[in-house]
Amino acid sequence: MKLKAMRGTKDIFAEDSKKYNHIVGVAGELFEKYGLNRIITPIFEETSLFKRGIGEGTDIVDKEMYTFEDKGGRSCTLRPEGTASVVRAYLEHKIYGSEDLTKWYYHGPMFRYERPQAGRYREFNQIGVEILGKKDPVVDAEIIAMAYKFLEKLKVEDLEVEINTIGGSESRTKFRQALVEYLKDKKDNLCTDCQNRYEKNPLRVLDCKVDTNGEIVRNAPILMDYLNQEELKHFEEVKKYLNLFNVKYRVNNKLVRGLDYYSNTVFEIVTNKLGSQGTVLAGGRYDNLVEQIGGKNTPAFGFAAGVERLMLLLNNEFENSRGIKLNLIWLGDMCKETAFLLAQNLRLEGIQVDIEYENKSLKAQMKKADKNNSDFAIIIGEDEFKNNKLILKDLKNKTQEEYKINDIVERLKGE
Ligand code: HAM
Repeated sequence: MKLKAMRGTKDIFAEDSKKYNHIVGVAGELFEKYGLNRIITPIFEETSLFKRGIGEGTDIVDKEMYTFEDKGGRSCTLRPEGTASVVRAYLEHKIYGSEDLTKWYYHGPMFRYERPQAGRYREFNQIGVEILGKKDPVVDAEIIAMAYKFLEKLKVEDLEVEINTIGGSESRTKFRQALVEYLKDKKDNLCTDCQNRYEKNPLRVLDCKVDTNGEIVRNAPILMDYLNQEELKHFEEVKKYLNLFNVKYRVNNKLVRGLDYYSNTVFEIVTNKLGSQGTVLAGGRYDNLVEQIGGKNTPAFGFAAGVERLMLLLNNEFENSRGIKLNLIWLGDMCKETAFLLAQNLRLEGIQVDIEYENKSLKAQMKKADKNNSDFAIIIGEDEFKNNKLILKDLKNKTQEEYKINDIVERLKGE
């Protein structure tokens, strides 16, 4: 029997691993400009962290966690998301004692036992951001704007920012009662999943994508009508700052999110290019999670983006952001040492160099340069070698010039 990667998992290599690196590179560079630092947390945690953090009754906790007992009899879970772990780390290391604002980002694999399809995997990667310690609505807007800038830098097109507010727990309880009352005599007409959600997590009925619920959901009570003045004011301010930062958004009053920890602002950045898995990046405010996990009341805001979904959306233009790339072609054993030494020196100057290990024909090596989509080829044949020279071919402009071997690093530095 042939061994294969397990269902919902995949190997990332060749062009895809370049895309992966590009995405996490752009994220790190931008987020650090906003003063965020990277945090790396373990891939597995005590199961109770996710039960308390994400909430029993959510799809993730009830159906999707990879939970196992280790040899010491402890219940462990492969992290299905990053926020709960980040909050655990924040409390465990008493970060709140040394700074009043904590700004972290992370990336790495997450695990959910979902039904795999394009853009949905059982092991997938997220890039996430968590800001702990401030309730100011400018934080919400600034981080949504940063998320949007990040996608813009990746040149991902046709995106829409959807925002909503789900208020605090008191307002939500009132709304939940009204919603349950409204759905009571309609629940048999809901999709099977929503009949379950009606019992466990009725707010999730609102953002179910199944068409059969359409009419029922359209006429449902609206969460915004149950919010208090302070909650409404917070949302108004978020919108004001989003306008200031020139982020175009749409208020979607059916957006509630699938994790329990959110309060007030929630948002998603969606595309219509990925079929049913159209949410590329999502998050919101979670002012009660730190307390729920055992700390003091600490406001917080964050989001996560699915790296594989971004990879599907990335067009090949990202290649343009690389530095110069060349193939160093050597012809005849006497040139090998010089060629390899030059390759080392060029690489240390930041130039990407591909070189053959065996003596191959000029034709074969030029073909490889073409396949690599290189900008230049350097050719050192026996005649050039004897004269301490080389030929530099500009493969894009189809020109060529001769240089002294010692001058080439200086020549290419300018590119
Ligand atoms: P989430 O909405 O569960 O939120 O996931 C965020 C993003 O991860 C999704 O929008 C999607 O792009 C990607 N994603 C989720 N599940 C899968 C999957 N099975 N396959 C591929 N990609 C997937 C969270 O995880 C929250 N922790 C976000 C957050 C951070 N909220 C506050 N801080």
